[in-house]
Amino acid sequence: MATSVRILTGITPSGTPHLGNYAGAIRPAVAASRQPGTESFYFLADYHALIKVQDPARVQRSTLEIAATWLACGLDPDRVWFYRQSDIPEIPELTWFLTCVAGKGLLNRAHAYKAAVDANTAQGEDPDAGVTAGLYLYPVLMAADILAFKAQKVPVGRDQVQHIEMARDFAARFNHLYGEHLVLPEAVVEEQVATLPGLDGRKMSKSYDNTIPLFAPPAQLKKSIAGIVTDSRAPGEPKDPDASHLFTLYRAFASETEAAEMHAALRGGLAWGEAKQALFERLDGHLAPMRERYEALMAKPDDLEATLQAGAAKARAIATPLLRELRAAVGIRPLAVAGMARRETDATEAPGRGAARKLPGFKQYREADGRFHFKLVDAEGRVLVQGEAQASPREAGALIARLKVGAAALDCAAEGVLRLADQPVGRLGEGVELAEVREALAALATPD
Ligand code: TRP
Repeated sequence: MATSVRILTGITPSGTPHLGNYAGAIRPAVAASRQPGTESFYFLADYHALIKVQDPARVQRSTLEIAATWLACGLDPDRVWFYRQSDIPEIPELTWFLTCVAGKGLLNRAHAYKAAVDANTAQGEDPDAGVTAGLYLYPVLMAADILAFKAQKVPVGRDQVQHIEMARDFAARFNHLYGEHLVLPEAVVEEQVATLPGLDGRKMSKSYDNTIPLFAPPAQLKKSIAGIVTDSRAPGEPKDPDASHLFTLYRAFASETEAAEMHAALRGGLAWGEAKQALFERLDGHLAPMRERYEALMAKPDDLEATLQAGAAKARAIATPLLRELRAAVGIRPLAVAGMARRETDATEAPGRGAARKLPGFKQYREADGRFHFKLVDAEGRVLVQGEAQASPREAGALIARLKVGAAALDCAAEGVLRLADQPVGRLGEGVELAEVREALAALATPD
């Protein structure tokens, strides 16, 4: 069975991207999104931004800039899932389900919260002074981001590993209570993250105020580069490239040959001014085509909005059916669904997952033919419907979503072929009656 790995990355829109973000995060992520056998999810975590940024104009501006940056750097929205967190209402809904299984004690130990408490304590303040519930629940929202899409891998920096562990913990608790619905994600720690030095030689970071903006106009780029700190060796004096962060920056954007040439030139006495000019040309050459795309995107926020809306629809084709399944699993479901209330009572004798196991469900998988298959199975695992294979997981998800709300319109032609609005959607399982399929779908559907 051909499989693909689902990878998910959240980007908090809280500032303007700089060269360090590009080299350390954007460039490698865009390259990774082109790997075969991967399904990449990239989203703008604007709900997360609200925890830190309470300036509405800045939230909007940063969302626009970051969306434009990722697209300008080559992220292909047709190939990946690219969306804005706040366009996916399933995320806050799942956040609540997870909040109700998340251990408060575990959240007490989350780094960001603990750091705030420690700082307050050190200053003799109330431990929770100035701490919002948003900061406290940050890991739950992040878990919902990941679990809503059944992501398997989450590339993160070391500081975020704890959050992925928490997402696993919440998912495991949920599954233990309600059955195997959620996929436990894994953190992928990038050991080799390219960190660029900033103007002063420390790591390029907004908090050090030493950044080179990614898409500043050439004149401003030149001015930034002029501000790179060098030693005071005069033109003609040999320089030590390996002790120079100007050279480190150059190398990050040059071929090996070009880097070797610059290395030799500096040792041979190239003036810092000339080296800066060479760095400017290198960077400008590298960034200019992307900057042009960036400016075009920034000039048309309507188009960007449309791209994000299309991305949200594509993402919701996955999250909507999952949340429908989860609502039913936790007991938020139509009151009239036959047998449900009774079964729940039985379940008191077999606590835990027993109750949830009794639900029918859809299973999606990919076969060697490269197509995306699905089936509807009953509570005991018997195949009720073998679905019509689809070209993409999105189409399979969309068809499942239609089936879940379309039970009444389903009909069965000769030979067990099921149709929905005259379109073949699958076949009945061995010895299965259409009525059983309708009942199973009704059990899964919840009113919107
Ligand atoms: N917390 C992440 C950061 O600050 C951003 C983020 C939000 C995220 N949700 C996520 C990252 C889900 C990975 C997966 O960098």
